[in-house]
Amino acid sequence: MILPDITHAIGNTPLVALDRLTAHLGLTGRILAKCDHMLPGFSKKDRAALAVIQAARASGTLKAGQTVVELTSGNMGTGLAIVCGLKGHPFVAVMSEGNSPERAAMMRALGAEVVLVPQAEGAVAGEVSGADLALVEAAAQALTQERAAFRADQFAHPSNPTAHETGTAPEIWEASEGTVTAFCDFVGSGGTLGGAARFLGPRGVACYAVHPDTPNHPIQGGGYNMPTLAHLKGVPLAGNITVTGNEARHHARLLARFEGIFGGFSAGANLAGAVKLLAGPAKGGTVAIVICDSGLKYLSTDLWKDAS
Ligand SMILES: Cc1ncc(COP(=O)(O)O)c(C=O)c1O
Repeated sequence: MILPDITHAIGNTPLVALDRLTAHLGLTGRILAKCDHMLPGFSKKDRAALAVIQAARASGTLKAGQTVVELTSGNMGTGLAIVCGLKGHPFVAVMSEGNSPERAAMMRALGAEVVLVPQAEGAVAGEVSGADLALVEAAAQALTQERAAFRADQFAHPSNPTAHETGTAPEIWEASEGTVTAFCDFVGSGGTLGGAARFLGPRGVACYAVHPDTPNHPIQGGGYNMPTLAHLKGVPLAGNITVTGNEARHHARLLARFEGIFGGFSAGANLAGAVKLLAGPAKGGTVAIVICDSGLKYLSTDLWKDAS
């Protein structure tokens, strides 16, 4: 099949059984990994980026040739850089300096203008907190006004969770032939978890939020400690799972070593969450997780240093 452009390759990623890993860890049950790190921008956020731009163009909120601005940890921005580039919208990504430099380099390569926002006082590079994100939000709002741009707004735009409700979750359900009993996801905007839970919850799947144990942590893309998230409002969840930065790192390394799946910190956090579920409330069941992005985005970080 010949695709008209690369955005048609967004979706339908493989679902892989992590049976070697569960055997190694002595767990009863299965973990299934949705390999969204294999999407064109090497992250699950391609889905949200495509859905937001398609909806905004269809409704006329986004005019032909209009500039798009977005706050990003790098992945939503990479997806938007791809989609906007192909659909003729200049794109400005506003990102914290605390996120890994690979992300900025990739967005620039795809034609985006990247505005880096210095971190809050006393912050550590590689650890982007809610305070850092508030600074990025202020800069994104100012730029949106200045450029008379369309703000993609992943934290508020309904197409973000819809992309997972109509894409990620049904794909997992179909590929697993309805065998999934639990799902957990590390929360950033909550788009993946909220959207997936809307589809999986009514089918009897227990959905859990994964959070970091501290406000400052290395798991890029989420864990911002926000009091409310629009995409999780009214979505019934089975519970919360806490994961440390070291657990995320360790499980990302296990994924690479035992399964040949090269994911980032949050993929590791999701795996750590799934392991806790199989050791506890989901024992003997089948837990689905998303491999949120590629480990290649973290080559400059300590994720792969001394990885053994
Ligand atoms: C690497 C990574 N993990 C997890 C998330 C969180 O996903 P969501 O915004 O759907 O909650 C993001 C979001 O940008 C991300 O980039």
